[in-house]
Amino acid sequence: MENRLTSRIIGTGSCLPENVVTNDDLSKIMDTSDEWISSRTGIRKRHLVKEETTAGMSIEAGKRALQQAGVSPEELDLIVVGTLTGDYITPSTACEVQAGLGAINATAFDINAACSGFIFGLQTVNAYISAGMCKTALVIGAETLSKIVDWNDRSTCVLFGDGAGAAVVKADTMGVLACDHGSDGAKGMYLAGLNRTNNNPLIQTDKALQYVQMDGQEVYKFAVSTVPASIQKVLDQAGLAPEDIKYYVLHQANLRILQSVAKRLKVPMDRFPISLDHCGNISAGSVPILLDEVNQKGMLQKGDKIIMSGFGGGLTWGTCLIEW
Ligand code: COA
Repeated sequence: MENRLTSRIIGTGSCLPENVVTNDDLSKIMDTSDEWISSRTGIRKRHLVKEETTAGMSIEAGKRALQQAGVSPEELDLIVVGTLTGDYITPSTACEVQAGLGAINATAFDINAACSGFIFGLQTVNAYISAGMCKTALVIGAETLSKIVDWNDRSTCVLFGDGAGAAVVKADTMGVLACDHGSDGAKGMYLAGLNRTNNNPLIQTDKALQYVQMDGQEVYKFAVSTVPASIQKVLDQAGLAPEDIKYYVLHQANLRILQSVAKRLKVPMDRFPISLDHCGNISAGSVPILLDEVNQKGMLQKGDKIIMSGFGGGLTWGTCLIEW
């Protein structure tokens, strides 16, 4: 029987803004402290844009991933960017990336699934590849969250960072082994930011732009129950046990969430690489940036089983089990 095509990651790249902001830097402009932030979240610093843009960082991350994969931009037939902070409403960040890379043969579009954006992007690409609709794709997760957080709300603004991560994906007989995904829109307002208010002069509206607001405790409860269940589902689909997984590359929201997931799965924390200490929560960017860090450090060998999981705004969650 002919093997069904799946998708293998053959190159990764990332790009972080130059400007590094520590918890101590934040404590100079708001009533917070390194002790409060690091003890509750594990975050010590984050990169925040000055001049960099979501598309600019995406293009740079994409170039690095293509270079590692040995793939030319013209070979790409699909570009998917997970982001909720594109520089424009239109064109999409993915179309800006297509232009910036010169990927003239690619179809390009964005996915807005907040912190699940990269995973939903990878799953979409995998579906296109399995259906024979594309062969070589670029998946990116990128954010400039510092533009949409409320800098007067110390309980949320300290958590987030900016950056972009990318993966080149190619049709292969081995790669994505199992997927799980889901959404719970009824709980969407636990992590929400209004886009634009009505600017129609014939209609009276409150013109104040609103920024991201979060019920941290509800989001925490959602994450620690949904993520282990989603991981268990992909393990069951693949007939694997938690200890068969070399690394759990999870969305970097909070160290306590990662510790809770590790405990539920009975897996030691050294299987959970961490970037949130120096990057904070980069929403759709977290998973691909961490994957690139792990890859660049030479921690991955061919055949390794890796689980990647994203979760957050929507509410949404998505998990992929891949073979490297
Ligand atoms: N510095 C100092 N104090 C702060 C603070 C800050 N940056 N932010 C909030 N506080 C204060 C609050 O005002 C509150 O003070 P009060 O008791 O006098 O009212 C106190 O700290 C506790 O606030 P609370 O919101 O109850 O803290 P918490 O223990 O729930 O921790 C989070 C807050 C955000 C760290 C935690 O809820 C969390 O990590 N949730 C998950 C959020 C997440 O990861 N979201 C992204 C998912 S994609």
